[in-house]
Amino acid sequence: MSTAAKTIMITGGAGFIGSHVVRLFVKKYPNYKIVNLDALTYAGNLENLKDVQSSSNYFFERADITNEEAIYSLFEKHQFDAVIHLAAESHVDRSIMDPLAFVKTNVLGTAILLNAARKYWKGSYENKLFYHVSTDEVYGSLGEEGFFTEETPYDPHSPYSASKAASDHFVMAYHDTYGIPVKMSNCSNNYGSHHFPEKLIPLMINNIKTNKPLPVYGKGENVRDWLFVEDHARAIDVIFHNGRVGESYNVGGFNEWKNIDLVKLLCSIMDKKLGRPAGTSEQLITYVTDRPGHDLRYAIDATKLNKELGWTPSLQFEEGLEKTVDWYLQNEEWIKNVTSGDYQKFYGELYDKR
Ligand code: NAD
Ligand code: DAU
Repeated sequence: MSTAAKTIMITGGAGFIGSHVVRLFVKKYPNYKIVNLDALTYAGNLENLKDVQSSSNYFFERADITNEEAIYSLFEKHQFDAVIHLAAESHVDRSIMDPLAFVKTNVLGTAILLNAARKYWKGSYENKLFYHVSTDEVYGSLGEEGFFTEETPYDPHSPYSASKAASDHFVMAYHDTYGIPVKMSNCSNNYGSHHFPEKLIPLMINNIKTNKPLPVYGKGENVRDWLFVEDHARAIDVIFHNGRVGESYNVGGFNEWKNIDLVKLLCSIMDKKLGRPAGTSEQLITYVTDRPGHDLRYAIDATKLNKELGWTPSLQFEEGLEKTVDWYLQNEEWIKNVTSGDYQKFYGELYDKR
């Protein structure tokens, strides 16, 4: 895609990754009109975009991607040239508690967006693009060795990853059947600012700060490949503009950590920042019942993205984690706001139901 003026719908722009993508596009491409479409579920928060909300090229539309009529009328109103689709139910533990919510948003919602693109672009696809943001979890679980490549067969294990896998298949099926220009990326675990504290890193930071138990699932042996969220946003930018149509690209941090080692590292960073004696926060670690169907290891081979488009992660993990911890310590009000209400209810029910 060229950098000529265009109108882009970014779905899920009020969430964690979406807000970083909106910020990057609004600031970097003043000639683009960016329309953030978000239902503002528990995970969406317009405060995440305070610094760009008054930019003249930024617009917000509150809408649910499963509401076909609303989506069609927004396509009519804004005449989108491209969609960058991030809106989703994104938390594995919630998908175990309420799988159908994931089918609805992630599968039906994606199909509705694709259908709207098909209807409003009317087979005239020049300078049009549907970019789907997906996850490495669609590939299932690795043993001690090996990496996920773009050729790894899909093998999802949680209702979340199954719903994302289904949405990926719909995207490729619309490309093959109707010729819609699509691109897709499958990324590993992100971390950084504005991450909702139901996910491992922000949850641990929040619990360490407030002296609550640090719930490590199973033995803490599971491995994740962590990438700084702004590096993911940069990858989306590069793939959106220079990636090949009809292709998917793996995005990863080349940065594998066992959960227990990561939690201990966070404890030691937090002890220093909070002026606690070394070893204090580690005492909060509590081993809890494992997540059902818990994937052992994810690790991405991002060679294709690196070789074709020159993308590499910009930050060392320790530096990124420090930045992240600092952001959470400086934004207590944000945490207070997002952890009131629904969050407390979810946190209680998670352990009641295990
Ligand atoms: P998030 O949960 O922080 O944000 C999701 C956003 O989508 C929220 O703003 C929410 O309000 C919105 N949303 C949810 N349901 C909606 C609906 N029906 N209609 C409109 N908006 C709706 O998620 P995230 O972690 O930022 O993930 C964004 C995308 O990236 C997801 O598609 C996810 O699968 C994918 N992804 C996430 C990670 C990660 O580590 N977080 C890694 C790889 C891929
Ligand atoms: O790999 C990409 C995926 O990463 C994204 O597609 C998902 O949207 C995102 O939520 C994330 O999924 P994970 O399940 O890997 O992330 P989560 O932060 O929930 O958990 C990370 C690891 O930490 C996992 O092995 C489970 C474990 N864990 C998690 C929580 C919340 C704990 O041990 N304790 C916890 O309290």
